[in-house]
Parts: sequence; structure tokens; C-alpha cells
Amino acid sequence: MAARMSSPLKTETSSLAAHTIAIKPLTPVIGAEIEGADLSKPLSNEQTAEIRAAFNAHSVLVFRDQKLTREDHKRFARLFGRLHVHPYHAKKATPVHANGDANAKPIDPEILVVKADAKSRYVAGEEWHADVTCDEEPPLGSMLYITKTPECGGGDTCFLSTIAAYEALSPAMKTFVEGLTAVHDGAKPYTGGYGTPPPEGGWPKTTHPVVIRHPDTLQRSLFVNRGFTTRINELNRKESAAVLEMLWRHIETHIEFQCRVRWTPDTLTFWDNRVTQHHAAWDYYPHERYGERVSIVGGRPQA
Ligand code: SIN
Repeated sequence: MAARMSSPLKTETSSLAAHTIAIKPLTPVIGAEIEGADLSKPLSNEQTAEIRAAFNAHSVLVFRDQKLTREDHKRFARLFGRLHVHPYHAKKATPVHANGDANAKPIDPEILVVKADAKSRYVAGEEWHADVTCDEEPPLGSMLYITKTPECGGGDTCFLSTIAAYEALSPAMKTFVEGLTAVHDGAKPYTGGYGTPPPEGGWPKTTHPVVIRHPDTLQRSLFVNRGFTTRINELNRKESAAVLEMLWRHIETHIEFQCRVRWTPDTLTFWDNRVTQHHAAWDYYPHERYGERVSIVGGRPQA
């Protein structure tokens, strides 16, 4: 049965008055293409404020035809906060971008290489997830800059809105999940999924509320994802497994919550990690796709 959708973002979107950029929504619920910003140059305060407002309204922003150095990429990200260091780099484990290549070296602790080619055993983000929610302070957002797209096409990234997912729950289910907390464990994807041996001291593991509020818009968001979440603390094991599966299916299976980004070379996409999840499509093997991701540290997710 289709979920009934109110569109809390629509009103905000239409009232956005942007002068320095053009905002072209991908769907009424999530995602927008942004035109008129050259991210290779320092941005004016006005343009930064407009991009921030568009980010809060659309959650996923797509900037095409950007010729960026790593410093440009990081400078843009720093406008939104301190740069995040992925646990692979922080813990000196074999980096996720290695995709099975143990000789691959991190190029910069603040940059995560996202690469797939004929040698890859897996690609990063091949199931619905938010980034690094095992951290006490997970990224508030990530910026993925794709410079090489597969020759055969494909390699899109799908995004969904966890605000829309929360909104579509029944009032009784909203009340039920509101006070719950859940464990997010890096061992689930990094060792369980990708097979990287646990580093000394183990992967980050932390508890976050199941429903969080976006710190700027105060909108509620369902904050459990298949990639990292392992357990709802207040329920017994079987109840926890059943409720998590129900919530993930609800979050992941409504196309009304989703948008799809079709990459062209030199596109940067900036997503809000607190109110979205994403899923990378690996439909282009054995062709190559290459990008670099910079993430920005957020605060502790708040109920
Ligand atoms: C990721 O999960 O950050 C990777 C997304 C992608 O490669 O499209």
C-alpha cells in the first residue's frame, strides 16, 4: 500500500529565494540540481547561505561540471564544519577504497577514495546506509566528487529521505519508535560486509536515538540504517530484529521517498547524512568509476 505523503519540504522549497544560484528540484521530496556555483573559487557569504538553505530544503544537492582540486573540494566542505576522518584512516586499517587491494594507500586522511574497476570484489555503499553512523559524531554530510563515470553508463547513486520515511509512519508507530535507541556498529559493514580485519581497539560502536531531529530545520528523521544498525536497546533480540527489519523495509521500499543521481564526469553531490540514506548501484562491472569523498563532522544526533 502506498504511504501517504505530506510534503513538508515543498513549501520551504517554493519560498526559497535564491539570487546567486538556480535550484532545480529532482523530486518534490528530495534532491536538487544547483546551477550557478563555481566550487573551484571561494564562495561569497550570500552564495554560501543560499547553498546552505537549499541543502536544508532538499537534502541532496548536485553540482555539475566542477573542475576541482582536492583543496577546492575540502575548502567547500569546510564551509559546513570540521572534516571527518574515516575509521579506516583513523584506525589505520586497510582502507575501504582498496576494494580488496591491500596495497592501496590512503592519499589523505580526510579523503576517502571511492573506486571500482575490474579488480573490485565489492564497491562502497552497495546497500542502503547513512555514512559512518557507528561514530559518536557521524558526518552531518558527505560530498562525493565523481571524476570518472563508467564507459557503459550506470553507476548511479540512489538517495532516500528519512524525513519522508518518518512522516509516513502511522501515529501509533511514531509514538512507539520515538523513545527508542539503537546500536550502530562499524564491525557490521567493515568486517562483516567488506571482510576487513578489526583494527586494534575494534571499530567504533555507539548508540543513537531511533528518531532524531535535524538541528537546523527541527524535522524528525528515522535514524536506523541497514549498513550499521545492529540492535534496538529497549527490545529483546527477536523484537529488535523484527522491528529493525520492518523499519528498513519501510524506509527502503517507497519510491516516493527517493531520487536518483545520474553522474556525469566532474559532478559533486552533497548529501545530508542525518536525513538521507544512499545506495550505490554497481551495474557497470568490469568498467571503472572513480571519485573522492570528503565528509563533515556533525554533532551527536539528538532525539
Ligand atoms: C558512498 O557510500 O559514499 C558511495 C556512494 C557512491 O559511490 O555512489
